[in-house]
Amino acid sequence: MKSRGSASADVHPAAPGHLSGVRAIFLVGFMGAGKTSVGRALAGRLDWLFEDLDDRIEKIEGRSIVQIFQDSGEIGFREAETRALRELLISLGTGRRVVALGGGAFVQDANAALIAEAGVHSVFLDAPVEELFRRCQQEQKVRPLALDAARFSELCEARRAAYLKADICVQTSGKDVNAVAWEVACSLGSAIAQ
Ligand code: S3P
Repeated sequence: MKSRGSASADVHPAAPGHLSGVRAIFLVGFMGAGKTSVGRALAGRLDWLFEDLDDRIEKIEGRSIVQIFQDSGEIGFREAETRALRELLISLGTGRRVVALGGGAFVQDANAALIAEAGVHSVFLDAPVEELFRRCQQEQKVRPLALDAARFSELCEARRAAYLKADICVQTSGKDVNAVAWEVACSLGSAIAQ
């Protein structure tokens, strides 16, 4: 897959200074894409803050994601997600950061509009659905929308067009976390230079 800023592993940013105009990088993609692990690695590499939107939701709500789904359903979860995103965007003035969004956040039109208005960079971490499902199965994290393989696959397909609206797309299949973090830094460096 190629999109506007598709990364190439043999392009190297000279230094994080390439990202001097960027306030925040938002990692988007389906469950199992590696948004949190790549986000942590990227933030470490850039010496930026890291934030996971799901963590903020749990903190604001005082409940786990699983509990929110159980008590309030997916609709209640999406409302909490948008509230948390608004709060996070307001807090961006306090330091540059890498943000991992939950898999459904960027596909909600209202959230995508908020992110676009904020003028931050969005990066779609892509992988084949079979690999995404396998990664989810291997993790301890309980994901209410990843319990059934067929439903997982359908949802992934339905969301794909929305993820592709991100500024750049990076393929993660078969790559380790640090390699993907490096590709994200490289591709954003060149996108900014354009
Ligand atoms: C969701 C993904 C999860 C979490 C919630 C809903 C989704 O985040 O926000 O379970 O709708 O795809 P991860 O993508 O980090 O697993």
